[in-house]
Amino acid sequence: MSNIEKTLSIIKPDAVERNLTEDIKNFFIDNDLEILSSKKIHMSKEEASEFYKVHQAKPFYDDLCTYLSSGSIIVMVLEGENAVSANRKLMGATNPKDAEPNTIRKLYGISIDKNSVHGSDSVENAKKEINFFFKD
Ligand code: CMP
Repeated sequence: MSNIEKTLSIIKPDAVERNLTEDIKNFFIDNDLEILSSKKIHMSKEEASEFYKVHQAKPFYDDLCTYLSSGSIIVMVLEGENAVSANRKLMGATNPKDAEPNTIRKLYGISIDKNSVHGSDSVENAKKEINFFFKD
């Protein structure tokens, strides 16, 4: 049975800076995820801290928020069959060195921080994250 979902994807500053936006968007499109909405933004550290609030107890939280607000990012709503898990599979493991071949983080990621993309980890969080960036 078909299960069409939406998920949130972010192209992080390291990838935007290296002009990888089109390559990453094409990777999604070529793998059956449609880009319903896309915008380029530059978050403040306060906004990044709000977005990554679930990680606030983690030792890397401050660096993570500084990093996400360090440059332009692309936020996108992706739609497709099982989009949440499909997107996570296409991204690969959080740490690029552990990611499977032909995943975005393996192809483009630099480090666990500069891992090029973020994607929602559940349907529930996808709804929250989409609402965070695309309120209307
Ligand atoms: P992301 O999917 O955007 O979610 C949180 C981010 O924290 C993660 O990708 C990584 O880029 C970053 N991060 C930094 N250090 C760690 C760590 N030790 N474990 C998990 N995520 C980390």
